[in-house]
Amino acid sequence: MTDLTTSPDIEAFLDKISGVDNPQAEGAPRTKQIVRKIIADLFDTIDRFDVTEDEFWKALNFVAAGAPEFGLWAAGLGFEHFLDVRMDLKDAAAGVPPGTPRTIEGPLYVGGAPLVESGARIDDGSDAGEALIMHGHVRDLDGKPVPGAVVDVWHANTKGNYSYFDPSQSDYNMRRRIKADADGRYEFRSIVPSGYSVPPGGSTDQILKAVGRHGNRPAHIHFFVRAPGFRHLTTQINIDGDPFLHDDFAYATRDDLIPPVERKSDPADIHAAGLNAPFAQIAFDFTLTPASQAQEEVLSERPRVLVD
Ligand code: DHB
Ligand code: FE
Repeated sequence: MTDLTTSPDIEAFLDKISGVDNPQAEGAPRTKQIVRKIIADLFDTIDRFDVTEDEFWKALNFVAAGAPEFGLWAAGLGFEHFLDVRMDLKDAAAGVPPGTPRTIEGPLYVGGAPLVESGARIDDGSDAGEALIMHGHVRDLDGKPVPGAVVDVWHANTKGNYSYFDPSQSDYNMRRRIKADADGRYEFRSIVPSGYSVPPGGSTDQILKAVGRHGNRPAHIHFFVRAPGFRHLTTQINIDGDPFLHDDFAYATRDDLIPPVERKSDPADIHAAGLNAPFAQIAFDFTLTPASQAQEEVLSERPRVLVD
């Protein structure tokens, strides 16, 4: 902190601004402390970098105008990954045994996708991408199948766009909740997604450019995996071989989340899959950790497009 930020006058000013100087007044002490810390850090930044009045107002207006993309800022500026890092550390400290690693949700989930049986096709057929069959089991830490598991999957099309946010796609295209069978097995058919880029010229793109970064994610498939008695899992897999595999603007890639992609071109395999062209196949098992409280079984309270 600069000398000015920690001077008695400014410390007292910060106490006043944040209500810390008035414990009797309404407002939770924790809220007051957090507000004080955020303002103090920004004061410190202004002082340390000698931010001018013009720069301050430019920044304020940039943030205000950029608000519709805050979900992307959370990913691109590493906040989502940082929250994951902290949850991982807390779990490790509490001795929670690791299942499939978590990784960020991203801002593009839509709740209420159709609940379908294992084996369902989840794309609407309008994107002539490479067909993908993904399958595996949902298991507990002992490797036993988890009955009643639901694999909620969402991913982009070959342009890197997600249904709902891309109104040209049909409702819930490439979004489904897949019921694993009695053996915990799930399977779905879709197409291999492409990587995602932040909207060109948008506020996220502008921040990233200003610091010499790009806004690309490697191709990936998102999952929420839920089953009674187990912790809710938020994760993704990456499509191996993507040029951005280890250069994700949202920092979500994890070594255990890059399953091999098998290319199937044998006519017998193609026929058996009910397809008429070579396809990609990914096998991936999810391992769930038992919940120690009911709250761990449910999705976080982050506001989402539709809540199921
Ligand atoms: C963003 C997009 C994604 O598809 C994703 O998974 C995470 C973040 C984004 O635009 O910030
Ligand atoms: Fe995504």
